[in-house]
Amino acid sequence: MLEQIETLRQQAEQDLAAASDAAALESFRVVYLARKGKIAELFDALRNAPPDQRPVLGKHLNALRTTVQQAFDLKVAGGAQDRPRASKIDLSLPGRSVHAGSRHPLTQVLDEMKSIFVSMGFGIADGPEVEDDYHNFEALNFPPDHPARDMQDTFFLSRNALLRTHTSPVQIRVMKDRKPPVRAIMPGKVYRNEAISARSYCLFHQLEGLHVDEGVTFSDLKGTLISFIRQFYGPNTKYRFRPTFFPFTEPSADIYISCFVCGGKGCRLCKQAGWLEILGCGMVDPNVFASVGYDPEKYTGYAFGMGIERIAMLRLGIDDIRLFYENDVRFLNQF
Ligand code: PHE
Repeated sequence: MLEQIETLRQQAEQDLAAASDAAALESFRVVYLARKGKIAELFDALRNAPPDQRPVLGKHLNALRTTVQQAFDLKVAGGAQDRPRASKIDLSLPGRSVHAGSRHPLTQVLDEMKSIFVSMGFGIADGPEVEDDYHNFEALNFPPDHPARDMQDTFFLSRNALLRTHTSPVQIRVMKDRKPPVRAIMPGKVYRNEAISARSYCLFHQLEGLHVDEGVTFSDLKGTLISFIRQFYGPNTKYRFRPTFFPFTEPSADIYISCFVCGGKGCRLCKQAGWLEILGCGMVDPNVFASVGYDPEKYTGYAFGMGIERIAMLRLGIDDIRLFYENDVRFLNQF
């Protein structure tokens, strides 16, 4: 009987190796492993064996049944044993990491700025990137011979269609659209025909702000922008306002913050000045109110505009503006 067991083991091994599809595997199971199968038959035959041999034979039979059952289960589960070596699963290998995407550094900075202004009661508005002379210049009180109207500085698409050079035309659109009070920020892309370098690019982003109502004063402007500076750059940031000129605001100012690299002593980043310019602002010029049909005797307001790239570069320590637009994952991965 020992011979029978050995023969059956060899047969089962061959048949299992030959069983190449589900149907063949099922018939293998019926022939060998089922209740009336060949292994069960041998168990039946055990009863007729001489009593003193039964324990040994039983042991062999049990071992046979276990081996065949295990080999069968393994093959049903995917037959890893039969696969070519190369595709064997090596469970000791470290897993492949999944690269999580992240928001673009400009988006991160812009989102933070938006949430600060929204918490101060500003809504969000936007306007077209292809503008006309009226919205980009005329309604904003630019004189007809202003240099920004030159082809050297502005991308003209046709005589009257151009890529907006700042987000200020959205002020005009918002005011023509609504009656005061108006309090909104207007983020978006702007375009300038400039020589491309580490500091300037033909495309960048601005965030415009506008607040118009009865009795809005320069101290509202200061309060709002100082609060923004404290929240965005930290409560101890020093700032200063310097008078400047914009056609669409009067009076106008540039705001500087103390250089956070050198603390005001002077370094490469601030070009030894100790101060960094972060935005332009001012009280809306009465001529602008006239062009949108607001009564300049009744309403006053302030506006401001800041470059997002510049602020992101200062904040994140990026020294070349072109990096934002190259989409190099070695750069983007760092944020
Ligand atoms: N539009 C101005 C610029 O592009 C910024 C600005 C906006 C200044 C609003 C004052 C008020 O430089």
